[in-house]
Amino acid sequence: MESKAVSSNQEQTHPDLQAVVEKHLNTRFLRPIPPWVSNLAETLVREHGEAPWILDSGCGTGLSSVQLAKAHPNHWVLGIDQSAHRLGKVAQAQPANLRLVRADAQDLWRALSQINVKVDQHYLLYPNPWPKAHHLMRRWHGHPVWPALLALKGKLELRTNWLVYAEEFEQALLLSGCKPVPKTILENAEVLKNPITLFEKKYAENQHVLTRLQVQL
Ligand SMILES: C[S@@+](CC[C@H](N)C(=O)[O-])C[C@H]1O[C@@H](n2cnc3c(N)ncnc32)[C@H](O)[C@@H]1O
Repeated sequence: MESKAVSSNQEQTHPDLQAVVEKHLNTRFLRPIPPWVSNLAETLVREHGEAPWILDSGCGTGLSSVQLAKAHPNHWVLGIDQSAHRLGKVAQAQPANLRLVRADAQDLWRALSQINVKVDQHYLLYPNPWPKAHHLMRRWHGHPVWPALLALKGKLELRTNWLVYAEEFEQALLLSGCKPVPKTILENAEVLKNPITLFEKKYAENQHVLTRLQVQL
């Protein structure tokens, strides 16, 4: 499938990044959490509180969630996506240690962090880049939910096909007192041997530059 590289009117990290991140670190995100999401978070903890957790946020059609669950049989994997359409396309049989839920991550992350959930690993695989400059606050590192994402802890991995996104994410981590390991560029030929997601496959086939950023929170 053909896919064009990300095009943006922003070629470098956003000039407002520091101000935006600092504002979110120092203020409360006031959007109410829907009660059903708080209930969902409590149910998930009750049903899966024993094993270490892996979150796959924005899991799309769940290919990565299934792979993660198979690779980590002693973990419990939670795939989160807001799109019923994407989740409805989950093709493979689901391992017993996997649960896929439809929810807005900005609500579920906060609901989980409010009841003190700490995860072991967290994957953000090819989040929407929101490449227009005025969309900075829709990117996860520019979003008011950023402190709740950090509060979930664990080993966090971001993959993106837009280098500026990775650079901003890295700066936001540093501004938040976290120490990411240096970013790496994934080799497309290597990625194509076993793409972890459908977007990764499509991007690698189209020779996009795929960046991975990891941090222990
Ligand atoms: C570019 S797709 C990547 C999907 C998958 N990770 C992949 O690489 O194939 C981004 C995904 O994030 C989901 N998403 C975007 N914003 C979200 C949010 N606030 N909460 C939950 N999912 C979200 C979208 O529905 C979409 O499936």
